[in-house]
Amino acid sequence: MSETGSENPNDGRYSTGELTRRLLGLAWQFRADCLLSLALSVLLLALALVGLQLLGVVIDVIRHALDPALGAPAFPFGWKPPARWKPLDVVTFLSLAIVAQALLRAVLTYSYNMATARLTQGKIVPDLRDKLYAKLQRLSFRFFEVNGSSSIFNRLTGDVQNTRLFVDGVVLQGINMIITLGAYFVFMWRIHPALTVACLSVSVPLAWVTHYYSNRLRPGYLRNRELYDGLVQLFSESVLGIQTVKGFAAERGCIERFEQGNNEVSAQQRRIFWDLSIFTPATQLLSQLSLAILFAYGGWLYVQGRIPLGGGLVVFAGLLQQFTGQVANLSTIANSVQQSLTAARRVFEVLDTPLEVQNKPGALAPGRLTGSIVFDHVTFGYKTGAPVLHSVSFEAKPGQVVGIFGMTGAGKTSLLSLIPRFYDPQQGRILADQSDLRDLDLDAYRRQIGIVYQESFLFSNTVAANIAFGNPHATQEQIERAAKAASAHEFILALSKGYQTVLGESGVDLSGGQRQRLALARALLLEPPILILDDPTASVDPKTEHEIVSALRHAMAGRTTFVVANRLSLLRRADIILVLDGGRLVQTGTHSQIVRLPGPYREAAMLQLMDLDEDEPIGAERAPGRFT
Ligand code: CTP
Ligand code: MG
Repeated sequence: MSETGSENPNDGRYSTGELTRRLLGLAWQFRADCLLSLALSVLLLALALVGLQLLGVVIDVIRHALDPALGAPAFPFGWKPPARWKPLDVVTFLSLAIVAQALLRAVLTYSYNMATARLTQGKIVPDLRDKLYAKLQRLSFRFFEVNGSSSIFNRLTGDVQNTRLFVDGVVLQGINMIITLGAYFVFMWRIHPALTVACLSVSVPLAWVTHYYSNRLRPGYLRNRELYDGLVQLFSESVLGIQTVKGFAAERGCIERFEQGNNEVSAQQRRIFWDLSIFTPATQLLSQLSLAILFAYGGWLYVQGRIPLGGGLVVFAGLLQQFTGQVANLSTIANSVQQSLTAARRVFEVLDTPLEVQNKPGALAPGRLTGSIVFDHVTFGYKTGAPVLHSVSFEAKPGQVVGIFGMTGAGKTSLLSLIPRFYDPQQGRILADQSDLRDLDLDAYRRQIGIVYQESFLFSNTVAANIAFGNPHATQEQIERAAKAASAHEFILALSKGYQTVLGESGVDLSGGQRQRLALARALLLEPPILILDDPTASVDPKTEHEIVSALRHAMAGRTTFVVANRLSLLRRADIILVLDGGRLVQTGTHSQIVRLPGPYREAAMLQLMDLDEDEPIGAERAPGRFT
């Protein structure tokens, strides 16, 4: 399983021992709570034993009262009833003690459940979720390219939850089981060793069955989570892509695909339940078998006169029933083991993904940069072995506007994404103010770069909060200044609640041009010395484009700006234009220099001019045979 791809050296393979060790480590962070839960469960066990003892004594007291020849009952804990008590008084007293014991057990069970919930739901799960989220925020882009968003969501939600099972469903239950079995064994042994061995012999096949099913279940759970990832992916894509779905009237196809995915998940789940539904009764059957042995062998012993039919035997039966109940619990525990280890594996995969781009020790936090950027023979590819940029070199002086031009897929966005160090080059180096990017403190460096993408993501929040995204402490004045610089102030004031208008899912939606100008304001708020614009006018009409371009003219002043554009209106203003073709830098110069030379830039310039000259309406009916 290599869902996390090249970023994960483990490639999803963890040994059970390793997973167990790490899960225990997670729980042990909250050792006080762990110990409290354990102590409570031991107390509960002790109380159960006390209850059984009392029951045995009650029976012996009654038998002794009916037939004094049978011998006096042995009272536990060195206690003796006062001599004046009649047998009925003793029985009443012991019965009350049993009730008190049961009440105390109820209270302790409640405390145990509360303590365990506080440990798992209150501490372990939130802690793990925080860790996972923090890690996701720091992971490099490549991780998100390799892993689907649904797989990531499922890990952050369901898998983190299931990891908790390891603590309450496996460790606590397991320790409890071991102590219980040990104690019951000792008690039973004291009543009758041979009977104990005979009755408990079924534990051997029981352990084997458990082991067998446990191994059978493991791959099923993993596959189940993967199928579920796929289903959630289908679901979320059809929500996010609802316009496309409806636009292409593809609802039926989507429903069919979803149904198919849904069926696969449920068929797979049925297989797990199928296994479980054989497993659980099998273990129960085996444990009932021990009761049969008790009656057969115990009965024979009684007939032979080797064991009295008294409180001892009743206690033994009680112990055995609880013992086998615990052993039958093995199936639940084994199921929890597989479920929680599968979840843990998926959570740890994310936690262990190495950060591809990260601060090296002693990275320097740069002061305010002048904005000089140098690419020195930079070669870069998303997958090793297939570069999308080949030995690109250029220099951007502080305050310059660098236009980047190229056909689709030429590597423009890739080049831009190297500037904020979203990726590291495979060969060559990139310098900002003469320092290699790899020597600079990432956050301090990235904060000096403002970025506007082809299409901007706005958060479901107010306009003001969206602009202040990079600096939540920005004052209203700063926000408005940024909005004005991005020519967004006027349209924001025209919104129903101005800067406090809520955008996004349950709020107002903006037009493409408005979104882009908000995004520009967001980038400008930080007063960055470096500005990156990835085709910001790609999806807007000419009028909006004009608005954005004039906003940009102010915005670019005094900043080193990298702007990808296909429209000459933006490129013409650039101090240098880089022309990319198939990942290679094929031309560098100003508009007037390179427009004269043959190449993709000149071709595009000619086409755009021709578009202007073309006087024929696009929809004009062609005279038959005109083009032949
Ligand atoms: N690519 C890739 N993995 C990514 C992004 C891009 O393998 N995560 C590849 C693309 O398939 C393309 C090349 O890298 O072959 C360059 O992509 P890009 O830099 O995005 O091209 P642009 O010039 O930005 O193309 P466009 O004009 O369409 O935005
Ligand atoms: Mg692009």
